[in-house]
Amino acid sequence: MKKRVLSGIRATGRLHLGNYLGAVKGMLELQNNLEYETFYMVADVHTITTPYDVSELRRNRREVILDYLAAGLDPEKSVIFQQSEVNEHIELAFYFSSVTTIAKMQHLPTFKDKVKQYPENATMALLNYPVLMAADILIYKAGLVPVGIDQEPHLEVTREIARRFNQDYGTDFAEPKRFATEGEYVPSLTGEGKMSKTVEGSFINLTDDLEMIKAKIAKVPTDSGIGDKVTGGVKTLFELVDLFQGKEKREELEKLYITTGIRYGDIKAELSEAIFAELEPFQRRRLELEANPEFVDKIIKEGNEKARKVAHETVKEVREKMGLA
Ligand code: TRP
Repeated sequence: MKKRVLSGIRATGRLHLGNYLGAVKGMLELQNNLEYETFYMVADVHTITTPYDVSELRRNRREVILDYLAAGLDPEKSVIFQQSEVNEHIELAFYFSSVTTIAKMQHLPTFKDKVKQYPENATMALLNYPVLMAADILIYKAGLVPVGIDQEPHLEVTREIARRFNQDYGTDFAEPKRFATEGEYVPSLTGEGKMSKTVEGSFINLTDDLEMIKAKIAKVPTDSGIGDKVTGGVKTLFELVDLFQGKEKREELEKLYITTGIRYGDIKAELSEAIFAELEPFQRRRLELEANPEFVDKIIKEGNEKARKVAHETVKEVREKMGLA
């Protein structure tokens, strides 16, 4: 049997560079490797764990799929689907919550960060976020998960749940590993933390045009251009240079920074061009897909059905083993 892969991205808006480099590139690589059977979803249920707008969610759960397809995810090779259309994810998450302690969930850095961001909304759903993610992965018995490095604590929770469940109920869940890509950590344009859809001014969208990219890169905070340690926004610029213009270019800049100094205007303009060059083909495909909504609807419908079949089998087995059937 082929090894399974699962990944997902929350439906909080159009995909940005961080999603693309940290997750989608890995998703593409595994999709094109015949050893794997790949399941890629939009994590729309995870979106409701923090405050959201109903009509925006309705739009975004489709937008993410369009972005997936434009980026090269191929329905002939991958099962592309919407998490909320496969009810079994939520059901399995509840079963999994019976082997997960509150204390453990409260101590996860991702939980603490979100509570800081939304102090009025420290909900049960938010606390359960990692448990639902474990259900997403284990319901397909996936062994490999292409996601950014910030998701590692959630994968650790997934492995613990798999072990506990296998021990207590004799299931055969694999302990999944993260599949890392080169751009697994894309820093924020603000110079602090990672590029994130929920942090204003931190990201570049895959659909941004050259002018927009230039404007956003221009805003990255910089310094006098010379110093002994690269930090903040300058560090962000150097990392983006590395990812889009290569390691050598970065090393060149690093040398100049500690010797004669650098001029950010030129560097920022060149970097913007390089980023746009990588996004242009994606943007062309995106427009084609937008002009063909029936084609997209059909892909989503078929993907949801395929995912449901597998998920149903796993939940059936779990219910039997737990004494619920
Ligand atoms: N938590 C992931 C993120 O924020 C999204 C996600 C939800 C996910 N379920 C998943 C990723 C299952 C991989 C596998 O990026």
